[in-house]
Amino acid sequence: MQALPKNGNRTDQSPHVILFIEESGGVWHASRLTEALKASGATVTTTTLKQCAFDTNSKTGMKIPGFDNKLPHGAFVRSISTGTLEQITFRLAILHALRDSGVRVWNDARVIERCVDKSTATFLFKRCGLPVPMTQTSERADLAQNFLDHHSPLVSKPLFGSQGNGVTKIDAKSGLPDPEDLAHVYYLQRYIPPTDNGNTPVFADWRVIVSAGRPLAAMMRKGKNWITNVHQGATPQPVALTTEMSDLAVGAAKAVGADYAGVDLIKAPNGELLVLEINSNPAWKGLQSVTGVEIGQELANDFLNAVVQHKGARSLASPTE
Ligand SMILES: Nc1ncnc2c1ncn2[C@@H]1O[C@H](COP(=O)(O)OP(=O)(O)O)[C@@H](O)[C@H]1O
Ligand SMILES: [Mg+2]
Repeated sequence: MQALPKNGNRTDQSPHVILFIEESGGVWHASRLTEALKASGATVTTTTLKQCAFDTNSKTGMKIPGFDNKLPHGAFVRSISTGTLEQITFRLAILHALRDSGVRVWNDARVIERCVDKSTATFLFKRCGLPVPMTQTSERADLAQNFLDHHSPLVSKPLFGSQGNGVTKIDAKSGLPDPEDLAHVYYLQRYIPPTDNGNTPVFADWRVIVSAGRPLAAMMRKGKNWITNVHQGATPQPVALTTEMSDLAVGAAKAVGADYAGVDLIKAPNGELLVLEINSNPAWKGLQSVTGVEIGQELANDFLNAVVQHKGARSLASPTE
């Protein structure tokens, strides 16, 4: 294994990597990662997946900004950005093609696909023996109605949702949501009630960020209501990582094959933590505000170590041709 050059001392052995950032916004994460990658000695081209192309005139079959007829040694996917079904399929196809061409992609397109689709992630958690809330996903209104009849109240989530958007509580009285609002797939999960502090309900869940098979940091998110995403107004609170949290978060990342991930955990009434969901492109601004761990730098270092180890990066002297 080749060692990385130390502390920004770029040499002709330095990896030249690409960082795919969000199209609009996301400047905070983009600049932190770019700086961290540079500080660890890499040459960095920061761009978006939208700027990439397939091109039969190119030696590599692709046009990647900053890489004339060459490919990067590694690709850090901070975001694939929102888009139409065709745009997302195309951007994932670029990531698949980069991997198939020997580029170390962090997280790989297959991982992003498994995490974006909440039903696949839940299936994989369950298959790996991780505790999850009771969940059913189907296109069938009869199955969904039966699940509601027996396990109400439920949480209904958009299959491809994030940041708490479109998450709703349903019960016998409300009935099933309009299938149009869910793109015709019911992802239904048993509602986990808040814990009780005297007579005051405590709305909280836990977010753990995992990188290269180890937990980096955790926070509790305390909300005014039951949807405790920071984006929905919940407040990050510092917590020490427990063994239970670490094992579940690392297990969840392993279940989907993620290089790095944000894992949401929620406490069942019996006190046991359950794996709620996983995010393959997690934001960490909220978590950074309550931890001393330099999350961006840790992620950058783990990524660059993987790039160096990757057999696709055989010759770091010249980017993959
Ligand atoms: N089954 C559930 N029971 C109670 N609260 C839930 C449940 N599922 C989600 N929530 C709340 O809603 C938030 C968003 O749900 P989540 O599954 O993490 O989707 P998203 O991708 O939108 O973040 C969670 O952080 C949690 O506060
Ligand atoms: Mg979440």
